[in-house]
Amino acid sequence: MGAPWWKSAVFYLIYTRSFLDTDGNGIGDLEGIRRQLDYLSWLGVDALWLCPFYPSPMADFGYDVSDYTDVDPTYGTLDDFDRLLADAHQRGIRVLIDWVPNHTSDRHPWFVESRSSRDNPKRDWYVWRDRPNNWKAAFGGDAWTFDETTGQWYLHLFLPGQPDLDWRNPEVADALHETLRFWLDRGVDGFRIDVVQGLTKDPDLPDDPPGLVLPHCAVNDCVDTHDVLRGIRRVSDGFGGERALVGEVYLLSTRQVARYLAGGDQLHLAFDFTLLYAPWDAAAWRRRLQRSAEELDAVDGWPTWNLSNLDNPRHRTRCGSEARARAAAVLLLTVRGTPFLYYGEELGLEDSVVPSDRVLDPGGRDACRAPFPWDATAGHGWPVDDPWLPWPPGAGTRNAACEGDDPTSMLHLYRRLIAARRASIALRGGTQRILETAEGVLGFLREAGEDRRMVLANFTSVPAGAEVDGDWMVDLASDTSAEGRPFDGCLGPDAALLLRPA
Ligand code: NOJ
Repeated sequence: MGAPWWKSAVFYLIYTRSFLDTDGNGIGDLEGIRRQLDYLSWLGVDALWLCPFYPSPMADFGYDVSDYTDVDPTYGTLDDFDRLLADAHQRGIRVLIDWVPNHTSDRHPWFVESRSSRDNPKRDWYVWRDRPNNWKAAFGGDAWTFDETTGQWYLHLFLPGQPDLDWRNPEVADALHETLRFWLDRGVDGFRIDVVQGLTKDPDLPDDPPGLVLPHCAVNDCVDTHDVLRGIRRVSDGFGGERALVGEVYLLSTRQVARYLAGGDQLHLAFDFTLLYAPWDAAAWRRRLQRSAEELDAVDGWPTWNLSNLDNPRHRTRCGSEARARAAAVLLLTVRGTPFLYYGEELGLEDSVVPSDRVLDPGGRDACRAPFPWDATAGHGWPVDDPWLPWPPGAGTRNAACEGDDPTSMLHLYRRLIAARRASIALRGGTQRILETAEGVLGFLREAGEDRRMVLANFTSVPAGAEVDGDWMVDLASDTSAEGRPFDGCLGPDAALLLRPA
């Protein structure tokens, strides 16, 4: 049996609202994604993760679901989804959809019923109490809201419009499992599962320690969630072992996250946000890679990596320069584990500047969610010139068409990295050994049988040297210099190299 597909796949996260609009409402849609499948196949990605497109009042832009088994008219129809899935599959691209089981919208019929009276049969589908505890919600404020009609408080780890479901209630589990079956029947290849660590809470709902600066969702880590995950996994496995469950386990310790992969009967993959929060510093990256290997190997887990996502500043902005962002891309696509790209990072998009009168997101994350610029025209390939959020900086040149014409662009760098990865079994699934290198330099060796690759990255803004055993050729360079030549022991400022044996 070969390795499962999700170990060697390159995933691409699409913020559905911002990829491409086709109906002229200024908001991206499913048909827009379908029309760009050739681009995605040219780039070389293996699987998509689509941000929520369910009917939603959009208090949290789709992470507040009011119907788990339909498509919001903003994004199209179920038929559009089926067409997108079929066309993606035809190109060999798999599709994971976002699934939001921790909470619904307060407009979901289940919650409307639940809040209607204390003896409603769905009352216990959510977490109601006579008194709140001291938990804080993710975007500020308390995690409890008082309901005047029934005189009790309900729990919401996120917005008041996102009441938490009570997964201890078997009817909740059954209803949510049914929503998984709905999409599995349609042929989806798996799910990205939102807020996995939140699914069950300590039944006593104890106060958080005084002085905790994190919202409760970042520390909620109740052991009962593992059984909930096993139930979800059974549903998914019932549709064949090829379906993948990728969990957002938003706990900032790899050791805690690893427990959600243990035993082979929970998640297939869990996000590890440690590189996303790592400063541009060789020692910090080295520590995180070592830590990941130690913690995940202990549970037979496989790492995931991302540099950017829908909730954080883009890596081009965080790194502070194009050179660093390019070097980081080399690392993302060569390090051991499954990489997740965030739409537009392959263009080197920066966060956009969102004027105060255009701020929409309650979590302050609009800047990293800008519309994808496809070309240099005023509407950048969209049917409107001014979509729901402002264009990212430099869209006149930093767009798919212009970068597609420039072989030295960031876009071509990503494409070549993905191709290099596909061509090397060592990069896709081989072992990884961190090398002894000078301060400011990170190096690692990837090996699988006879296949070997070495990666060296200079995290300083001055040239650096690296002594390596054996003779190596430069296969690919973040600044495209010296490619195809023997490695001479020199690394440019903020540059990374992929080497192959000479
Ligand atoms: C994580 C998602 O990535 C984020 O965008 C959302 O606000 C929260 N979960 C709540 O669903």
